[in-house]
Formats: sequence, structure tokens, C-alpha cells
Amino acid sequence: MDRNPILCAIDTHELARAQSLIAATAGAVGGVKLGLEFFVAHGPGGIRAAAAGQKNVFLDLKLHDIPNTVAGAVKSALAVDPLLLTVHCSGGAAMMRAAIEARGRARTKIVGVTVLTSLDDNDLAAVGQSAPAVAQVRRLALLAQASGLDGVVCSPQEVAMLREACGKDFLLVVPGIRPAGAAVGDQKRVQTPRDAIGAGADYLVIGRPITQALDPGAAARAILADIP
Ligand code: C5P
Repeated sequence: MDRNPILCAIDTHELARAQSLIAATAGAVGGVKLGLEFFVAHGPGGIRAAAAGQKNVFLDLKLHDIPNTVAGAVKSALAVDPLLLTVHCSGGAAMMRAAIEARGRARTKIVGVTVLTSLDDNDLAAVGQSAPAVAQVRRLALLAQASGLDGVVCSPQEVAMLREACGKDFLLVVPGIRPAGAAVGDQKRVQTPRDAIGAGADYLVIGRPITQALDPGAAARAILADIP
């Protein structure tokens, strides 16, 4: 690959832990993901403090509100110059367009969350969504693309289908990645970094295989070495 596609998921609310993980992986990953757990505790100042040595931050805020409010939140988020920022596709076309308009000419790519992988077909039916999850993922990804979003977050199972449906320029950001032989943990459907990139992923979100390693930098470099 011509660039490092690994985004290390820094899943903690502790500033010191985030700082040490980000320092330990500097130079070995393409960026880091910080989400609601961290952002609610420390805000934009905490993001800046944690990511001092890492300019590529995936700010995973999963915004979902009326268009005007999401536009305002996107503008506020630009203060930390994220590489990637997430919104929920189910907020609708107008909300997604408002997010992109608010982004303006900033480098930040805005990607959509389609269907949370914690929801199965029964959970979707209970909130009035009768199509199977995979059909809903495809529908929302196409809506996101038509609304101007730069890409979506998707599971390893969906990469090939969405690459086909959305074409080569739509970013696919993929969690649920496990190096061959690594502990799966609570992930149910996993893919190796090599296979996910082969299927068309642009970014791999990888947490515990890096963050739980004795040497997170070495773990990330070993994963990178296995990607064609
Ligand atoms: O430790 P692990 O590699 O499983 O971490 C993956 C990261 O991606 C975590 O931050 C997790 O919340 C996130 N994620 C995921 N599956 C999704 C969406 C996000 O594992 N479908």
C-alpha cells in the first residue's frame, strides 16, 4: 500500500492511557480513532492533548440530529482537524448534505455509520425496519453516497458488496479486523488485514490486537507487514 491504512482504536476514557498508546504507536499506524467515550470525558482539548504526536485522528462521534444541529457540530469538530468524522446515515439525506456543506474545504472526510452491528434483524424489526440488515446497509450506503458523504464504516462482511455498489472512490472504513491467529475477543465476524484490503477496504480500524500488545508499535508494524 502507498499509505498506512491502520487506524488504531484508542478505546479509553483516560487521558494518560490515550496519550501513552498514541505515543507508542506513532509512526507505526496511519492514525488513531477516538470516540464518544473519550470525547465526552475530555472534549476537543483532550483530543488535542492526547493526539499531540499524531495528526490523523478519526473522530468517531456518530452524529445524528436535525441538519442544522449536525452542521453546527461538524463545524465545532473541525477545530481539531480530524482526518475522519462519523455521522449516522439514518439521520437522512438532508442531514448528511448539511454535514458535508458545513465541512466546506477542510480536509476532513465525513463517513456514515449504516446499521450498528450490535443490531440484528429482530432488533431492526422492533424499531420498524423490516428489511434484512444487509439490505438496509446497502440502501443507507447508497443514500450516503448520493448525499455527498465521502464513505461509510462497514463490517468485513460488507466490504466487497459495498465496493461493488458504490464504486472505487467511496471510502470504506472497516473495524472487526484480526491478524491471523489473534484473539477474536467479542468480535463475531472478523477478517484479516490482508483479506479486508483485498476486498476493497481503505482503512482498517484495529483496537485490541495493537493496544493490548506488550509493544503496540511492534504489533502495528507486524500487521502492516502482512498487508500486500
Ligand atoms: O479492539 P477491536 O479491534 O475489536 O476494536 C475495534 C474498534 O472498532 C472498537 O473501537 C469498536 O468499538 C469499533 N467498531 C467495531 N465494530 C463496528 C463498529 C465499530 O468493532 N461494527
